[in-house]
Amino acid sequence: MSGLIEKKILLGVTAGIAAYKAAELVRQLRQRGACVKVVMTESAQAFVSPLTFQALSGQPVHTQLLDPAAEAGMGHIELAKWADILLVAPASANFLARLATGQANDLLTTVCLATHAPIVVAPAMNQAMWSNPATRHNCQIIASRGIRIIGPANGSQACGDVGLGRMLEAQEITEALEQVTTGGLLMGKTVVITAGPTREPIDPVRYITNHSSGKMGYALAAAAREEGANTILISGPTSLEPLFGVRTIRVETARQMLDQALVLSGGADLFIGCAAVADYAPEQVALQKIKKDGNEALNLRLVKNPDVVAAVARLPERPFMVGFAAETENVLQHAREKLHRKNLDLVIANDVADSAIGFNSDRNAVWLLDAAGEIAYPEQDKRQLARRLMQEIAARLERHNSRKL
Ligand SMILES: Cc1cc2nc3c(=O)[nH]c(=O)nc-3n(C[C@H](O)[C@H](O)[C@H](O)COP(=O)(O)O)c2cc1C
Repeated sequence: MSGLIEKKILLGVTAGIAAYKAAELVRQLRQRGACVKVVMTESAQAFVSPLTFQALSGQPVHTQLLDPAAEAGMGHIELAKWADILLVAPASANFLARLATGQANDLLTTVCLATHAPIVVAPAMNQAMWSNPATRHNCQIIASRGIRIIGPANGSQACGDVGLGRMLEAQEITEALEQVTTGGLLMGKTVVITAGPTREPIDPVRYITNHSSGKMGYALAAAAREEGANTILISGPTSLEPLFGVRTIRVETARQMLDQALVLSGGADLFIGCAAVADYAPEQVALQKIKKDGNEALNLRLVKNPDVVAAVARLPERPFMVGFAAETENVLQHAREKLHRKNLDLVIANDVADSAIGFNSDRNAVWLLDAAGEIAYPEQDKRQLARRLMQEIAARLERHNSRKL
């Protein structure tokens, strides 16, 4: 049953190309049983007519702050009190800036200030506008006040650019709202996730690393945060954008990752080791750049790195342990060995020999396995996969905890 049944959703629509997608969003929210009222900014009405939203929501559309026809002229307070959730989709860069600075210069921003309902924003804009430091800063302020930022997604944009800035699809937004209403499967839980590669220095300019992009670990951290978890991400070097609402600790080497993981996992409920930790590191790190003159060959002696996941699994009060197994052959067999050898509760296995999925790709296909069996997750977008995995992991964690009682 949908958590949105009879929920009162106030949908703010701001001025961006994605405003047309908000029409489909209204339809889907109503299909799930929600009652939807729409507030449009003045500029948004240049993109989509209020009549469209009136027809789809079955409610008058609100566009004016200074509206003498509104009840006692206090329509903004009425709307702010009416809403169970205030969703702004699309949220323009301009709107995010006004929200961050607490402005109340139109109906939508005034309602945002006046409401006690949770606020969720789905930004949509050109990729350069999204990555502009001003927008980044505004989002940080908004997130620090507990406003949920969902998306944006990566992909091709109306202006012809490619990058981060597309509004999430209507279905993804409704799923995120369902989580807001249920409070999230990991509410009150602390989740520690490792992501990305590690870098093992050879000398001041060279290092050993691997192909991990960090995308899967970051997607899992975003999914844990969406499920209401206090989420801590220990990230090796990646080029990924920081995640709002996720405490991110940046490390370089396997040893640094181990140190952080051991400290941060004390008291955590769930640990997910998604980082591709280098198995070996140079025994000696040269203090100066190694010169090639006179050296026809260079011998590096590598020594084994500590095993981060296994070390956390050996903690006396260890969290529920999930490891990743990136394999190139006999994937399930190797994953099952890892499950037992490292004393894990679950292993998520993927075949990194397939270049369409795994390292650096936006898509992945995995198996989730424990001692009793396995579930196959077919190829899909890493963010969607992360949400599905997190729901399954949260359910297993719940069962695990209830057995301990
Ligand atoms: C054709 C066109 C498309 C636009 N698309 C976007 C967009 O996708 N995202 C965005 O933040 N701004 C976009 N803008 C700029 C906003 O419309 C502009 O900043 C406006 O003042 C936002 O008003 P509002 O935040 O009050 O709705 C676009 C402008 C034009 C003319």
